[in-house]
Amino acid sequence: MNPDTLLQLVYLLSATLFVFGLKRLGSPATARQGNRMAALAMLIAIVATLVEQEILNWQLIALGIILGSLAGAIAARTVRMTDMPQMVGIFNGLGGGASGVVAAAEFFRLGGGDLGVEAGVTILLSTLIGTVTLSGSFIAFGKLQRFISGAPLTFPFSRTLNAVLFVAILVIAAMQVTGGATVTMYLVLTGLALVLGILLVSPIGGADMPVVISLLNSYSGLAASAAGFVLGNMILIISGALVGAAGLILTNLMCKAMNRSLANVAFGAFGAADSTGGRITPGEGKTVRDVDAEQAAMVLAYAQSVIVVPGYGLAVAQAQHDIRKLSDLLQERGVTVKFAIHPVAGRMPGHMNVLLAEADVPYTQLFDLDEINDEFSTTDVALIVGANDVVNPDARDPSSVIAGMPILDVDRARNVIVMKRSLSPGFAGIDNPLFYLDRTMMFFGDAKGSMVDLVRETKEV
Ligand code: TAP
Repeated sequence: MNPDTLLQLVYLLSATLFVFGLKRLGSPATARQGNRMAALAMLIAIVATLVEQEILNWQLIALGIILGSLAGAIAARTVRMTDMPQMVGIFNGLGGGASGVVAAAEFFRLGGGDLGVEAGVTILLSTLIGTVTLSGSFIAFGKLQRFISGAPLTFPFSRTLNAVLFVAILVIAAMQVTGGATVTMYLVLTGLALVLGILLVSPIGGADMPVVISLLNSYSGLAASAAGFVLGNMILIISGALVGAAGLILTNLMCKAMNRSLANVAFGAFGAADSTGGRITPGEGKTVRDVDAEQAAMVLAYAQSVIVVPGYGLAVAQAQHDIRKLSDLLQERGVTVKFAIHPVAGRMPGHMNVLLAEADVPYTQLFDLDEINDEFSTTDVALIVGANDVVNPDARDPSSVIAGMPILDVDRARNVIVMKRSLSPGFAGIDNPLFYLDRTMMFFGDAKGSMVDLVRETKEV
């Protein structure tokens, strides 16, 4: 067989594995397999490209693979689940940067001058998107890691400045494509793109960073795709397009689950660094019913049905293994236990699924919002663990800042137990009327410690 046909067939195999891998990521039950499939596809693509390009410096490549694998393995093992968004942020940034560097290498290989329309457009597009992704992702990382303030950084005419920068970049790019490129123009364009990335992400509040990271993920895919055009590499074009599309779909899903538009996320300056920033005094003038572990255990143990609603606090406290123990204990007593998963519970897509999977909670016990919402009204106890906004009935009030956000209807359950440390608000920074209902019992404390106590008391009931 002609080597080129063989190469295209290998690329086709790799692309097919990518698509099936992505498909399998759609369900927690098949996600691990999907991940492995996509990793295999990437390995096949890399090896095929190296062989095709007759890359001779295998020592350098081997060194890169060893160093990269080491960094990846250490990061995967040591980064906490709640810090995953910032790790993805760095990966996106470096992916975008790599595409930009590929484009720059091609620019200098061609020696600037008359690039021609095809090479000019693809090189400049890859440089622009890659560089914006690089600087934007590092700002997102800095905000999430608290290296810089998470508060929206706004100043007068910032949007006008962004528009001017963008137009300037387009003009310089058009001049390079039509009238010949110079190194100075190329460097100016790259510098402006770096500044644009910083200015685009800085006005967005730290708490909205997961959405930004998903959007930048999409950009990094587009940058890779553009780099694929620069190199004439089919698999890079396909895989970049898949990442670009997947990132966009995810961004859209997140916005929908918060009932916010992408424009509102990008320009709304919503939320501060940490939305518990004390903008309200929760509970002022209102009373709550406070219970301890023994009382909560009695309510749970004598129920017939319990729906557990996990949220960000569960992830912070790392109480997923204890929640699993509680669920097992209750089921041994004949209680039906289900888990209700809100699409934006926690701080990243699929956050709760990953946490519960880590504790081996069976997938059959996990239900999406649409699947379970009607069941709350016939459920004995809704047990909320470290969730707040996703169960805030205020979302039904058109004047609320979270108006229209789909919520889990826990306030319709016969009894509600809320486990959290205080009456502090969640990400949206607003009070939650759920806490003051007659049917609600507040079980205050760190979710981990409280869950350990609850398991102990449930054993004794
Ligand atoms: P939140 O509304 O943020 O509430 C989490 C609650 O957990 C807080 O009120 C906090 O109360 C409690 N908590 C923190 N540490 C705890 C601990 N150690 N033990 C017990 N409780 C603890 O969380 P949620 O209900 O999961 O909602 C997620 C929010 O994030 C939504 O507003 C969503 O729009 C936003 N968001 C999510 C995503 C994704 S993709 N998931 C992306 C962007 C934005 P105390 O301080 O009183 O303990």
